Amino acid sequence: MKLFSGMQPSGDVHLGNYLGAIKNWVELQKGNELMLCVVDLHAITVPQDPEHLRQRTLDLTKLFVACGIDPKKTTIFRQSDVAAHSELAWILSTQTAMGELSRMTQFKDKSQKGGGDSASVGLFTYPVLQAADVLLYGAEAVPVGEDQKQHLELMRDLAERFNNRFGETFVVPEPKINKSAARVMALDNPAVKMSKSAGTNNYISLLDDEVMVAKKIARAVTDSGSDITADEDRAGLYNLLTIEATLTNSSLEDAAVKHKGKGFAEYKKHLAAVINQSLDPIRSGFEKLTDQEAEAILKAGGEVAKTQADDKMTEIKQKIGLN
Ligand code: AQP
Repeated sequence: MKLFSGMQPSGDVHLGNYLGAIKNWVELQKGNELMLCVVDLHAITVPQDPEHLRQRTLDLTKLFVACGIDPKKTTIFRQSDVAAHSELAWILSTQTAMGELSRMTQFKDKSQKGGGDSASVGLFTYPVLQAADVLLYGAEAVPVGEDQKQHLELMRDLAERFNNRFGETFVVPEPKINKSAARVMALDNPAVKMSKSAGTNNYISLLDDEVMVAKKIARAVTDSGSDITADEDRAGLYNLLTIEATLTNSSLEDAAVKHKGKGFAEYKKHLAAVINQSLDPIRSGFEKLTDQEAEAILKAGGEVAKTQADDKMTEIKQKIGLN
């Protein structure tokens, strides 16, 4: 099966990104054809420092590899290296209603944070670019976290609309949501999702050192109870148990039963050790890769992606009457 997914080089990659997306990709690359895009054009929908953006693109590539993505099996590439993404996004934007984009909850959340009316038009049309990313490659499924479900529904609508109007052109992709950690919540506020842009205390970065991991977990919001139970109403604790269960490939209930009778402080020490054990190979794998190696991976992937995308653009332009 052909799969497409992406990640923004917009900040520190965190446990939510890892458990909701990257860990799943590592498994999926085994029996499938996976295209993995560093979506730098999406990242600039909010202000980015140019030097940081350039470096984060390379660092994200290194992290993919350190987490187990094999560039020999998976095409890893930079979105801005393939001009067809922007070109198709424009074409699809002419087929998208303002009302559809206004209903996107991610836009509502992010534009509120970014000052309402001063949010960029790019942030508004973000899901259209995302649709272009996937539809260009004929991907049958998109492995993402649950936060992207609404965007995937819009993507399917756009593909079907185009096919109905101009004839069969796009594969209509299915969302492939990783059930076990579809939504990892913020450590400092378990009511909202863990997010790169919400401040360092809300997340564990994949590159946080051991001491930092222990500190952040010790400070994570729990509740006034004293026992360890897997109860969704106890959102903070439930989130910590989800992190443990997903990292150790066990069930939430098993994780809770294992810690019956422990206090929160003792449990948090155990969890920090589990996280550090999982992050150790990622941290060291990341250090082993140079910027030049990351650039070479992106360049090779970009060439593969460009050939496929350019062919598809020729077909799309013909269907619309642009060539
Ligand atoms: N908290 C999360 N739990 C599970 N999965 C998550 N993902 C993100 N946060 C969580 C998944 O990570 C992939 C890449 O996300 P992205 O970088 O494209 O953008 P995002 O979803 O907007 O991630 P962030 O961390 O919240 O970034 P910022 O703050 O820059 O917007 C996606 O598959 C996503 O589902």
